[in-house]
Amino acid sequence: MKKIKSNTYSVYFDANLNVLDEFLKNSNYSKFFVLTDKNTGEHCLPLLKDILKSLVNYDLIEIDPGEENKTIDFCIGIWKMLIDFGADRKSLMINLGGGVITDIGGFAASTFKRGIDFIQIPTTLLSQVDASVGGKTGIDMDGVKNIIGTFTQPKAVFINGSFLSSLDQRQIISGFAEMIKHGLIYDNGYYNTLKGIHPKDIQEDLIYQSVEIKNKVVTKDPTEQGLRKILNFGHTIGHAIESYSLANDSFPLLHGEAIAVGMICEAYLSHRVGDLSVDELNEIVPYIQRIFPTYRFGEGIYDDLFAYMLNDKKNVDGRIGFALLKQIGGCAFDSYVEKEHIFESLDYYRSCVE
Ligand code: GLY
Repeated sequence: MKKIKSNTYSVYFDANLNVLDEFLKNSNYSKFFVLTDKNTGEHCLPLLKDILKSLVNYDLIEIDPGEENKTIDFCIGIWKMLIDFGADRKSLMINLGGGVITDIGGFAASTFKRGIDFIQIPTTLLSQVDASVGGKTGIDMDGVKNIIGTFTQPKAVFINGSFLSSLDQRQIISGFAEMIKHGLIYDNGYYNTLKGIHPKDIQEDLIYQSVEIKNKVVTKDPTEQGLRKILNFGHTIGHAIESYSLANDSFPLLHGEAIAVGMICEAYLSHRVGDLSVDELNEIVPYIQRIFPTYRFGEGIYDDLFAYMLNDKKNVDGRIGFALLKQIGGCAFDSYVEKEHIFESLDYYRSCVE
């Protein structure tokens, strides 16, 4: 069993859920709560139930799946159920699901009775390589992603590859965007390894390497005062695209699909106003285009996208802050980019997909 140590907890690569079993048996929590959505309740909970059988007192809280439900209303629903089920400060919340569950579950736990312990059992590639690690919890409001939230570290994270078998190809590719991002911002060699494989062939060692990169960054800067901002490469424009798509499209983009659009735009900005060479720009963009679906939009939505970007958490004094690549495998942060260049990057994306 492999494990990665963070400042206050560990990420366990727990193929048989043995470590989770031991963790739960050896703990002295008063009650256990499992948070799932309908998908993980059906596909992932049965695996966990064998372990939970040996435990007394667990209650299930199930919410509807999807980013559109990562809201205060659903969070209130979770808090109400915790109250109805008699949760106290010695209770443990077990978040079993993708990024929506680990984000909202972490947020609900970190604020309930001023904070109860929680563990993350991520069941999507996206949440295994990104959302469940690093202690960001949160909900969306007024269409703005994660605008309300806390930095609260879980007690442990348990990664089990068998959960991924229930995912469709689109979900896997969505998670792959964050893996590519880890290579682009931190490790040229890892980026080249990823280029050599198809997302459907991802093995645990690649997930491990992604978590290792993320963990190195977040342990140095748990509350995003500086370095951690590099993890937002692709996310300033990507989050705006994702929010726009959630509000306007009948079949909205998945997070990683929007981040792929954002990475192309922000790679352009990395060259236009930063240090990324044109050769590396021309290397990155066709690779991302090859893997991710094209998102078609017109100039008419630029102002809407810009309005979303104005709410980005990295902004200072109304200026929009970006993490921009210096080269493949290295990233700067706190680059403030003018509106005209941001719009130019959207033009660039559209010209690439014409
Ligand atoms: N997903 C970016 C971060 O955890 O900082």
